[in-house]
Formats: sequence, structure tokens, C-alpha cells
Amino acid sequence: MTQNLLKSCADALEEKFTVHRLFEAKDRDALLNEVGPRIRGIAGGNAGAELMDRLPKLEIIANFGVGYDSIDTAAARQRNIRVTNTPNVLNDAVAEITIGLMIALARRIPQADRFVRDGKWLKGGYPLLSELNGKTVGIFGLGRIGREIATRAQAMKMRVVYCGRHRHTKEPFTFYSDLTDMARDVDWLVLIAPGGKATEKIVSRQVLEALGPKGMLVNMGRGTLVDEAAMVEMLASGALGGAALDVFENEPNVPEALFGLDNVVLSPHQGSATQETRFGMGQLVVDNLVAHFNGEPLLSAVV
Ligand code: NAP
Ligand code: 8YV
Repeated sequence: MTQNLLKSCADALEEKFTVHRLFEAKDRDALLNEVGPRIRGIAGGNAGAELMDRLPKLEIIANFGVGYDSIDTAAARQRNIRVTNTPNVLNDAVAEITIGLMIALARRIPQADRFVRDGKWLKGGYPLLSELNGKTVGIFGLGRIGREIATRAQAMKMRVVYCGRHRHTKEPFTFYSDLTDMARDVDWLVLIAPGGKATEKIVSRQVLEALGPKGMLVNMGRGTLVDEAAMVEMLASGALGGAALDVFENEPNVPEALFGLDNVVLSPHQGSATQETRFGMGQLVVDNLVAHFNGEPLLSAVV
């Protein structure tokens, strides 16, 4: 195990395999020297080429998460190591909290809670804000989760448009091939594309400027998608209207400049963090490993 996994998942792994916990090792090097030559599978992420080189018998990496940007897939491919992820089981949980964070930002719900607790209501009412109804949301990454967000945004009576590498002809929504163009035309920009080199800082200062002082950014994908320094500066100056952020460039470190901003809602990378969904993700990690070592087809292979 390269990361701390849900107890049900760790217990199921213990039942079926001999498990070593790399993430808990006081001396990582010593553990790798001792057991590395016998390791045949990884449960979890954070697997670069350097780790793979310490595990000459490694056959499979079963990532806990649909996003597998913490795994060097090119290195895995070169070494004939299979990689799996946990798609679909988390779509609903992530889509739900995306809408939750959008409403939280539009209506400043965390701030309203503090307003009541601090006794400020006794001195006057809460300011009038804005709603999702009637606004346009642009989804960057209309994939498995993006589609679920689109459905829920429609239930909020929003107009949905999207941007990505491909036009999805079966979808009824307007397609933009250019992210800056889409950002210019929308009220809300929701990011739910993968991280990694191909999308690094794709939400540049230029995209944020196009979104503008009334625009709202929601990042559910990965912190690396956004030029975080530019985003923080623009949120502070009012050049960007607001942001609801579940993911950050250097988690769990969050730029402190965000803590004092009223136009920001912060969330600790909890898109999939429900009991039901994390259980499903853990099960898929175990099922992929069991399938592999039984010589059966993998359930959700990415390499
Ligand atoms: P998915 O089904 O693969 O959808 C991702 C979409 O992003 C695809 O439809 C793709 O559309 C687009 N995309 C991929 N690479 C792109 C690129 N280089 N440039 C532009 N668009 C690109 O994945 P998913 O299951 O919906 O998950 C999406 C991501 O959400 C994950 O990779 C992960 O980073 C994030 N996530 C976050 C949480 C959380 O807790 N916050 C939880 C789960 C997932 P096109 O093919 O049309 O480009
Ligand atoms: C995390 C996620 O992976 O699935 C993803 O891509 O971002 C989340 O579900 C999860 O928090 C485990 O690290």
C-alpha cells in the first residue's frame, strides 16, 4: 500500500495478500530494500518510475481514485506493468458536491453560517446574492463525472456548454474547442478534467481574465489545471468573481491568501469522500488486484 486506504479496503487486501505499508514506513529505503524484490502489486497511487525500479517483480498498480496522475503511466507501460483506476463508482458523489459547492459559493453559505454564529444577524440582514437559475455553466471535461454535473446543473435550470478535446455529438450541449472562448461566454466554469502534463495550467491567466470579475470558477479536477498564483491574485483583486475549490496544486497546503477572501469556498479534496463511494472505490481496487492475480480480465484498466 502506497497510501492510507479505507479500512474495508485494507482489511480485504490483508485477507487476500501479504500487505506492506510503504506510506507508514519510518525508513522507506530500508523497507524497499527488504521487501521490494518480492512486491508484485501496488494498492494506491504515488508510483513514479523510481519506485517501479525498486520493485522488479511489480505486475500491477491498482490506483485508489479515477484520476491517476500520481502514477507514471509511461514508465509502467515500458515495464509491462498494468494500471487500474476506479471510474464510475464516484460519479454521483462528485457531481453532487460540485452542485453543493456552487450553491455554497453563490449564496455564501459558509459565510452565512459564521454570520449567524457570530451574532451578526441581530444587527442586520445578510446581503442579497445571486442564484444558479438562468446562468450558463461551462464544463471543462465532459466525461463520466462531467455528464453527471451537466444533468444536475440542468435541474438547477442552468444552460450547459462544454469544452474538451472532442465534440461529443450525442450530447445536446454547445461545444467549444477553445477554453478562453468558453470562459468568456459563461457565468460559471467547472473543471472536471484530469491532471497531468497535458492539462497543466490550462486554466491560464488569460482564461481567468475571460471569465472575469463576475465569473465563478469551480475546480473539482486537479489543482494543477489552474495557474494557482494568478487565480489567487485575481480573486483578491476582484478581477475574478469567485471560486469554489476542492483541489489545489500542493495538497494539503492551500495558499494562505485564500483564507481571508469572502469570495472563495474551500473544500479539502472531498469530491468522492462519502462512506458509500469510498467503499465502492476500495472494492474496485481489491477486485482489480484479485482479477489480475487470478489471471482474469481487469475490471478497469488504464494501462
Ligand atoms: P473521464 O470520464 O475520463 O472524463 C474526463 C474528460 O476530460 C474527458 O471527457 C475528456 O474529454 C476531458 N479531457 C481529458 N484530457 C483532456 C485534455 N488533455 N484536455 C482537455 N480535456 C481533456 O474522467 P472522470 O471519471 O469524469 O474524472 C475526471 C477527473 O476528475 C479525474 O481525472 C480527476 O482528476 C477528477 N476527480 C476529482 C475528484 C475529487 O475528489 N475532486 C474525484 C474524482 C475525480 P475529451 O476527450 O472530449 O477531451
Ligand atoms: C481521490 C480523486 O483519488 O478519484 C479521484 O481522482 O480525486 C479522489 O477520489 C481520493 O481522494 C483518493 O485519494
